[in-house]
Amino acid sequence: TETTCIQTETRGRVATITLHRPEALNALNSVLVRELIDAALAFDADPGIGAIVITGSAKAFAAGADIKEMAELGYSDMYLGGPFPGWAGFERMRTPVIAAVAGFALGGGCELAMMCDIILAADTAKFGQPEINLGILPGFGGSQRLPRAIGKYKAAEMVLTGRMMGAEEAERSGLVSRVVPADSLLDEAHAVAETIASKSLPAVYAAKEALQVAQESPLSEGLRFERQAFAAAFATEDQKEGMRAFAEKRDPEFTHR
Ligand code: HXC
Repeated sequence: TETTCIQTETRGRVATITLHRPEALNALNSVLVRELIDAALAFDADPGIGAIVITGSAKAFAAGADIKEMAELGYSDMYLGGPFPGWAGFERMRTPVIAAVAGFALGGGCELAMMCDIILAADTAKFGQPEINLGILPGFGGSQRLPRAIGKYKAAEMVLTGRMMGAEEAERSGLVSRVVPADSLLDEAHAVAETIASKSLPAVYAAKEALQVAQESPLSEGLRFERQAFAAAFATEDQKEGMRAFAEKRDPEFTHR
């Protein structure tokens, strides 16, 4: 299907979605968000895809929700999902998603990155929740995911002042998985994606789900989930193959990947 604000590409088992609204620093308007969610959910439903990379441009991953589009909306518009319905589906995807962030990741852009499983940052990346400067607060999960990622006090400073954080501070704070030179960002992101896509798909799905449960539940509940998921892994062919391959000193040939 034709898209106007994103570009998609698949290489082997890795899909890449590139946000492409250069005139607005990839601000998330309703068209971009619809296209992004549709593309991501289609890749998620395709068992031939083992990992998804989401990236932007050198200047901006995404500078936030589109302020001009939101400016005149009211309570009911926003409560009904406003220009951005459908995020629940994005957050329920089972395929690992890697955000490859260069330049600005602000507001909804920072929150989109935090909805992903892994955040790789170029040394040019700048993260922030500047909503407070607009008389609002984060609305895509930033007030909840940022403190879980970097702790209450750093998150409070960012959310209450709107201050941006560079890549190095973001890595030190636990907001990003790793910082890489800007010119190798996409290569690094694809390498991570290909590594994940080479593993057993059921094991990857279960591991991602367990990590999500860790973000959302008390420890006791997370440990119960893990115990069941771990036992269930022993019902898969891929567990037998993975362990036999280790004992036979060869690479595993997973059935599901
Ligand atoms: C709409 C945007 C935009 C945005 C940039 N643009 N960010 N348009 N929504 N979020 C547009 C500008 O209007 C401008 O268009 C063009 O992109 C280039 O931006 P400049 O400001 O000229 O670039 P620069 O001077 O380099 O400054 C970059 C910047 C600044 C610091 C990132 O653009 C900025 O502060 N943007 C807004 C960031 C922000 O507040 N994000 C949070 C949004 S609220 P023209 O036509 O003038 O060239 C949010 C809520 C999420 O995300 C929750 C939703 C439910």
